[in-house]
Amino acid sequence: MNRPDLLGRTGPADTGPARVPGPLRLVQPDASIVARIDHAAITHNLRVLRRHARTPLLAVVKADGFGHGAIAVARTALAAGAEWLGVATVDEALDLRRGGITAPILAWLVDPWVDLDAAVAARVTLSCPNVPTLESVLAAVRRTGTPAEVHLEVDTGMARGGCAREDWPELCRRAAQVQYLGPVTVTGVWSHLGSASTPGWRAVARPHRAFVAAVELARGEGLAPSVLHLANTAATLAHPQAAFDLARCGAGVYGIDTVTGRPHGLRPALRLTTRVTQLRRVGAGVGVSYDHAYVTPRATTLALLPAGYADGVPRALSAGGTVTLGGTRRPVVGAVSMDQLVVDVGDAPVQLGDEAVLLGDPAAGEPGVGEWAALADELPHEILTGLGRRVVRRHVGVPA
Ligand SMILES: Cc1ncc(COP(=O)(O)O)c(C=O)c1O
Repeated sequence: MNRPDLLGRTGPADTGPARVPGPLRLVQPDASIVARIDHAAITHNLRVLRRHARTPLLAVVKADGFGHGAIAVARTALAAGAEWLGVATVDEALDLRRGGITAPILAWLVDPWVDLDAAVAARVTLSCPNVPTLESVLAAVRRTGTPAEVHLEVDTGMARGGCAREDWPELCRRAAQVQYLGPVTVTGVWSHLGSASTPGWRAVARPHRAFVAAVELARGEGLAPSVLHLANTAATLAHPQAAFDLARCGAGVYGIDTVTGRPHGLRPALRLTTRVTQLRRVGAGVGVSYDHAYVTPRATTLALLPAGYADGVPRALSAGGTVTLGGTRRPVVGAVSMDQLVVDVGDAPVQLGDEAVLLGDPAAGEPGVGEWAALADELPHEILTGLGRRVVRRHVGVPA
């Protein structure tokens, strides 16, 4: 049977169903890939975390809010009851202030050589893991005439950031002196947990002990920190006793449950969609994309989606990845390229402009960030923070 091709022309007979594009809904040219950020999900996740935390909550919005949009997430998190915001860099903190956020902000990667005047003037709480950073805060306080609050970071076993145990007494001593020299107040002591994902106190017992000892030593040096904090999402959910005065939650805010084998009903806040931009009917034995790693086993329809690894779609999806098209999971075939990928839709009546769900809600049978992460041997965090600049964020369910 002859059927019209995509341009309406009648061509040779083919085995697939007729596929004439309907009228296309025009969208903005920048919207090839859309990340819909669901603030109702963020609000829900905050509620779950707060229920477990039993302490005030700090929402981590570093790395542009794990790729969701730092300022928008910050506003929703604060509206949902978070009392603090946490970022890595001073620049991220200043971006929040420029966005009109007045809540307490902790920045925890403060380089000692960075000019901290703006951060001090903007009342950003600065983390100090060593004496040079503390001196840098003191210098900024003197230049600006603005008092500063600092949280001292101690290493409790990760050997990553934070003051090493052997240097901790010196840092505390100098901090106690600095408190007299200028209006610099040590209001907090904190540390980070390297592995809190396993239920059972054993997972956090050692760093917890080391943290308590570090706080005692700080108090012995005359410091009076009132905000002690150690817990991340996993600890907040599985070991709330480790939260002390503040639970610092990142992953959970965005719906990533980091506790092994024990779901807490967190909801993904990001939905990544795109649209079919090309369709081609091919016969059996056709090699697809670079190096023809996939060869069609039968006559089929190939749908092109304008999303690739530059947008954050891992190349690992080339083998085993799926997208949801027309309510059905369809395999990604051939190599994921920088800007595009191909999906084998078989004989389904897919049309140009049909929406494809790249990342959705696994509870509804859609591909989830955990699935991508498993295929790519990455963390869900890497997937979310790796979404590219072409992905347009659309915020829905923003609290009034
Ligand atoms: C210092 C610090 N605290 C807390 C968090 C939050 O950890 P999680 O994302 O596991 O909740 C992070 C990372 O996100 C962090 O770097």
